[in-house]
Amino acid sequence: SFDWLLVLFLVNVNYCIPFEMDELPSYQMANAVLDGIRKREEKELQVFDSSVDLEEAAHCRCECCPSRESQEEGDYCCSSLFSLDLVKKVIPFRDGLITEMTSFGSHSCICKDPLFSDYLLTESAVRSAAVTYSMLSGEEITDKNKSYRYGAYRLIIATTIGHLGKGARIRLPSCFVQAVRQRWPSANYTGFTE
Ligand SMILES: *[C@@H]1O[C@H](CO)[C@@H](O)[C@H](O)[C@H]1NC(C)=O
Ligand SMILES: *[C@@H]1O[C@H](CO)[C@@H](O)[C@H](O)[C@H]1NC(C)=O
Ligand SMILES: [Zn+2]
Ligand SMILES: [Zn+2]
Repeated sequence: SFDWLLVLFLVNVNYCIPFEMDELPSYQMANAVLDGIRKREEKELQVFDSSVDLEEAAHCRCECCPSRESQEEGDYCCSSLFSLDLVKKVIPFRDGLITEMTSFGSHSCICKDPLFSDYLLTESAVRSAAVTYSMLSGEEITDKNKSYRYGAYRLIIATTIGHLGKGARIRLPSCFVQAVRQRWPSANYTGFTE
């Protein structure tokens, strides 16, 4: 499940399948295609400059991230956003956070700032984000908690960046994702990575 690491505004990522689909692809061929998709996804979701060590970015200094073992390779601590070099696309996210947080720098984790505790992580805010998305997209809400989680992911982007662009996605900090998943859990979650 990708729901916790992606923000999909209008859910439309079309991957080209480079072979005719009139017969089943061989295992190797299917694997090669999957590999290509994974690489593209990795690049698309890259947060830090290539010179940055991913383990350094994942190292938690905010005290709110889940354990490293339960995360994926590219996951990162919120503190890394403010101390390491970012790819261009992520800079507005960092700057937006700095601008919108009430007391930037006075908490170890962004999630402890009133922007999060009094707004982004509240039921009324994510509910409003969820129903607005449902109205605009025509997607009916069938799983309330899931719609709230997506609502929270969209809301943090809307609040910090504004318009992200059709189909554009951004990887969110692990502590925030964990906070959202703890607040509005899925019946199917057994750990951070599932
Ligand atoms: C949805 O989230 C609430 C807490 O906000 C929780 O009590 C409930 O069990 C969750 N629903 C599911 C299906 O996990
Ligand atoms: C849990 O997973 C099953 C099977 O993958 C799915 O049908 C069901 O909707 C999921 N439930 C929730 C609450 O996500
Ligand atoms: Zn952290
Ligand atoms: Zn944090």
